[in-house]
Amino acid sequence: MGAFHRLNLLHFTLSLVVIAVNGHNITAILEGFPDYSVYNSFLTQTKLADEINTRETITCLVLNNGAMSALTSKHPLSVVKNILSLHVLLDYYDPQKLHKISDGTTLTTTLYQTTGNAPGNLGFVNITDLQGGKVGFGSAIPGSKLDSSYTKSVKQIPYNISILEISAPIIAPGILTAPAPSSSGVNITGLLEKAGCKTFASLLTSSGVLKTYESALDKGLTVFAPSDEAFKAEGVPDLGKLTNAEQVSLLEYHASPDYKPKGTLKTTKDPISTLATNGAGKYDLTVTTAGDSVTLHTGVGPSRVAEAVFDSPPVAIFTVDNVLLPSELFGKSPSPAPAPEPVSSPSPTPSLSPSPSPMSEAPSPLAASPPAPPTGTPVGSPADSPAGSSENSTSDNAAGHVSAPLLGTIIFTVFATVVSSVILS
Ligand SMILES: *[C@@H]1O[C@H](CO)[C@@H](O)[C@H](O)[C@H]1NC(C)=O
Ligand SMILES: *[C@@H]1O[C@H](CO)[C@@H](O)[C@H](O)[C@H]1NC(C)=O
Ligand SMILES: *[C@@H]1O[C@H](CO)[C@@H](O)[C@H](O)[C@H]1NC(C)=O
Ligand SMILES: *[C@@H]1O[C@H](CO)[C@@H](O)[C@H](O)[C@H]1NC(C)=O
Ligand SMILES: *[C@@H]1O[C@H](CO)[C@@H](O)[C@H](O)[C@H]1NC(C)=O
Repeated sequence: MGAFHRLNLLHFTLSLVVIAVNGHNITAILEGFPDYSVYNSFLTQTKLADEINTRETITCLVLNNGAMSALTSKHPLSVVKNILSLHVLLDYYDPQKLHKISDGTTLTTTLYQTTGNAPGNLGFVNITDLQGGKVGFGSAIPGSKLDSSYTKSVKQIPYNISILEISAPIIAPGILTAPAPSSSGVNITGLLEKAGCKTFASLLTSSGVLKTYESALDKGLTVFAPSDEAFKAEGVPDLGKLTNAEQVSLLEYHASPDYKPKGTLKTTKDPISTLATNGAGKYDLTVTTAGDSVTLHTGVGPSRVAEAVFDSPPVAIFTVDNVLLPSELFGKSPSPAPAPEPVSSPSPTPSLSPSPSPMSEAPSPLAASPPAPPTGTPVGSPADSPAGSSENSTSDNAAGHVSAPLLGTIIFTVFATVVSSVILS
């Protein structure tokens, strides 16, 4: 009796935890159904679980382990992600509603339609009430067969999420043969140039940091690329005054060594590490979400994340509207903070104040702390990167660090017109 009571209490508590966080946690729900463990595992691998958890009023059409294995053995993760996103309906269908479709047939939109990879009706699913109580599912593209049918209800949390089992995968025309970008074949600079991030792309190339990005492609990479406008914005410090090692850290700060599509960013509560992270809490980013909008915070200033330029597991590339300025290099935000260095001594030292006014022509607003140690560049990044050879250049001698002439020239050209030495507030 006592044990029974405790079990019940435990179950009740767990249910509360699951529901309280975000309305629902698809991973936790499906853990109770071993028949769908493969499906569940792929929701996690593709990060679709995060996307599902950020949404209300949805229906997941699940496939049992046999049907999933047949699918996943033949297709790369990027294709599996597209197929599974076609199985997440952006509407709530419980078994009753399935059997009460007006006119017996309807088209419903899916998560796949929201990816931008689905022209026309490709991201819609046709649900049709067939003779004899059978409900068929198929692609909404005219002429598609209703090859899949409803088999049973798995779980409902009205009207947030419904989970229904179907007999076979819904396949939209062309979805299986869509060019699957092999991650190592992703042309990062090509994508960035097309997305209006030419400055960032050329910095990655000239600094050699592109190699670090490329060596992370197979394991997972998320890039936050500042737009060309972001580099021209008032308040961007004179990056030409950074040492090569600092420039490398700054560029490595713009990517995270993991696949984080938008839904994952939205559900991220802990700080995320970047390629520049060289110790706990160093060079990390925090994320805030308001509705559909995701903002990154560096400790110096915020930057909004736009829609993905590229999103195919394990690589996501986003543009951001501000250069990400790590507080390790650029200090804390001067405006909202009180005095950066509260001086308790009565002696007024206004001229030595480390806090630069936003429009001052003061020298580089580098933090007074010693420059960050050269980041141990991750895997596969050879010592031949330009930064490695010039760590002894001084930070405020603009000519001093042009030991890698190409880098210096490009940085100088790009930033010569930029209003210098100002920190974003
Ligand atoms: C449905 O989701 C909303 C918003 O997330 C939440 O407030 C509500 O408690 C959820 N309902 C149930 C039954 O979980
Ligand atoms: C959802 O549940 C899984 C498995 O129980 C857990 O690992 C994960 O942290 C949960 N996610 C959230 C956002 O609570
Ligand atoms: C759904 O598909 C069936 C069979 O192809 C078709 O007859 C029906 O018109 C479609 N429904 C809609 C709403 O397009
Ligand atoms: C990547 O794209 C750029 C710009 O489109 C192009 O110049 C470059 O040759 C491409 N690199 C590879 C390896 O295809
Ligand atoms: C600085 O680096 C250059 C070449 O990288 C080297 O020749 C020189 O000795 C170094 N100077 C100091 C002070 O380490």
